[in-house]
Amino acid sequence: PTNRTFTMIKPDAVKDGHSGSIIKMIEAAGFRVVALKKTLLTPERAGEFYAVHSERPFYNDLCKYMSSGPIVPMILEKENAVADFRTLIGATNPANAAEGTIRKLFAISMEANAIHGSDSDENAQIEGSFFFAHVDQY
Ligand code: CMP
Repeated sequence: PTNRTFTMIKPDAVKDGHSGSIIKMIEAAGFRVVALKKTLLTPERAGEFYAVHSERPFYNDLCKYMSSGPIVPMILEKENAVADFRTLIGATNPANAAEGTIRKLFAISMEANAIHGSDSDENAQIEGSFFFAHVDQY
């Protein structure tokens, strides 16, 4: 069945001018862009988004980084969207990312890893509604 995932292009990749190339790869892989915008998170809102990581040692830096410049959040649709999208972006640590993945091509470090992808259908729904309203209707 067709389902949805959530992604955001992170500040490093937006700043370096890779948004267009990344969106092109996403569409070429068969994903439909359901919703898209360019926006800026405050450190507080970044903290809310990443609340599940609040006990991790990298949490404060992550919130600072994710609010350091514009990001491009998107909701995407495709068959098997969550799993296929995680294959397309590659491992969290770019050193471990497979050839041809978005992170292999554009990530700078474990933190500045170019792009996010939801890890479950449930989180895709939660994360998507953090940025977009009424998407069930389009
Ligand atoms: P993402 O999977 O989008 O969501 C959690 C983010 O935290 C992750 O991408 C990285 O940007 C960051 N992250 C995860 N693990 C580490 C780590 N060990 N050190 C620094 N940043 C990390």
